[in-house]
Amino acid sequence: MEQYDFRLVSPTALVPAFARGGTTIPFATEMMQVLRERGAVLSESGPFSEETARTHAPFFEARFRAVSHVVEEKGATQVLELAAGLSPRGMELTQRGLVYVEADLADSIAMKHEIVTAILGHVPEGLHLCTASVIDRLQMLECCSHFVAGRPVAVTTEGLLRYLTFEEKAQLAANVLEVLQRYDGWWVTPDIHLKSVFARQSAEQKQREREQLGRSLGANYFEDLDHARRFFERSGFRVEARPLPEGIEGWLFVLTVN
Ligand SMILES: C[S@@+](CC[C@H](N)C(=O)[O-])C[C@H]1O[C@@H](n2cnc3c(N)ncnc32)[C@H](O)[C@@H]1O
Repeated sequence: MEQYDFRLVSPTALVPAFARGGTTIPFATEMMQVLRERGAVLSESGPFSEETARTHAPFFEARFRAVSHVVEEKGATQVLELAAGLSPRGMELTQRGLVYVEADLADSIAMKHEIVTAILGHVPEGLHLCTASVIDRLQMLECCSHFVAGRPVAVTTEGLLRYLTFEEKAQLAANVLEVLQRYDGWWVTPDIHLKSVFARQSAEQKQREREQLGRSLGANYFEDLDHARRFFERSGFRVEARPLPEGIEGWLFVLTVN
């Protein structure tokens, strides 16, 4: 597998966090305030600017709410949020008694720890901030040690797959499959990034992303919806494809073990 420093992706977590800051999503505004107090800024000259956050805010809000909706609809009591970044979902759902595991890279998890503590005064009992690369099988399984056997797990992945090559996506899919084979449950992801959307990005934006991320993202997109469906089916999942809410372009997949 290609050697890649995934820490280059971590700053992208600020974009959805800033975008959600202007919504009524629980803890999103508090999260943005703490980030601003800590001096977090989105560079106007980089690919991940405040302008990007503003332009894509309806999409970020819709995908966040769509994932939360499925977690609630399924009645999940245990959640594994992969590449959680600055997502505030865990802070909300642990208040409702869920066991919530957030997995991300070490630096992101350390920062999340500080931010959650700044907002709530402590990390809630049911919230487990776990260092793991999602393509590392053992690290991911270790994060699952917080789950109770015999109860299904909702695995969520939001804003990650476009940064992963197909080889990395396949490894991630194998890891999630193993988690769901152990616990049962669902893999919920709105990361169905299609080439038609990438084609609309300006050449300048693509170049800025390439410079910041040290890799070009075009080859990581799915050819079309059918390609995405086949990728997950070949990875061992049954696919339920749901469109994002009206007015928002995109899809959410609810995946179960086939
Ligand atoms: C665009 S952010 C999305 C964050 C969050 N899911 C959201 O929607 O607000 C991408 C996240 O993926 C994380 N990430 C990138 N590569 C990763 C890997 N191999 N394992 C775990 N997390 C990773 C980054 O640290 C970052 O937090």
